[in-house]
Amino acid sequence: MKAQANGEETMLQDAVRYSKEAGSLVMELMNGPLRIHEKVNLSDLVTAVDVRSEELVRARIASEYPEHWILSEETDGGTNGERGGADPRPGYGWIIDPIDGTINFIHKIAHFAISIGIVKDGEPVVGAVFNPVTGDLYTARKGGGAFWNGQPLAVGRERELGQALIGTGFQAKDWHPDSVVLRQLCSLTGKARNVRINGAASLDLCHVASGRLTGFWHDGLYPWDVAAGLVIVREAGGVVSNRDGGEFALSDDSLVATNGAVHEALLAVLQSAAR
Ligand code: 2AM
Ligand code: CA
Repeated sequence: MKAQANGEETMLQDAVRYSKEAGSLVMELMNGPLRIHEKVNLSDLVTAVDVRSEELVRARIASEYPEHWILSEETDGGTNGERGGADPRPGYGWIIDPIDGTINFIHKIAHFAISIGIVKDGEPVVGAVFNPVTGDLYTARKGGGAFWNGQPLAVGRERELGQALIGTGFQAKDWHPDSVVLRQLCSLTGKARNVRINGAASLDLCHVASGRLTGFWHDGLYPWDVAAGLVIVREAGGVVSNRDGGEFALSDDSLVATNGAVHEALLAVLQSAAR
């Protein structure tokens, strides 16, 4: 057990190193030509910088952990929105989003991150999320706590929905007037303190872990958006489920993360609006 914890601590430190190296590359390339391409639609974008960042992280893992598998957005996601590799394989695997919050990146909003999660036999065990503009680094290892730039993290203390600040976002395919997310947003008005749409799921999860957000929900996310943040929220004392309240799995199409205290109340509002 100790040997495994030591091994996973080393993997966490390596994930941090790769995320910072990729972060430096992203910052270097940020003011050059981005070469923006649409994937699913006008709201689902990739740039040449996403691809370069992903190549760097994949190369480091392939060279230092050749026995581990890798799942990453721009290599495994396809261009039709298919849920590539949503069911993780056995053994250790690295799940990478080379830029989470690509639209923020394109619009020069300082809220995007390199997200690296590690799973063991399908279970998320390590997470590192690095914002290269602000230098915010969020890390966690299962059983080892969650940290922001080395300082321990804990979820917020709000007890009721009326005190809760809740984050959400639109999956590219939900960016239309009939989306369930819009109905859910409407039904939260007047019940929660307010809502935030920040545009990077990995960082939204870190905000739940740090108590800035009380909760966060999002449909249609992929393993690379959430694998790292999931460990960080859980290690900070939060709860992560699917929309039915069952324990969240990487293959789930819906995610609800909170400080625990407001989980049932948030689920009830989201479920009633989705009907
Ligand atoms: P991205 O920036 O890596 O695309 C925005 O609410 C959040 O949803 C971001 O984390 C964004 O990730 C994610 N997201 C939106 N549409 C997505 C899609 N089609 N595939 C993967 N992630 C998506
Ligand atoms: Ca991305």
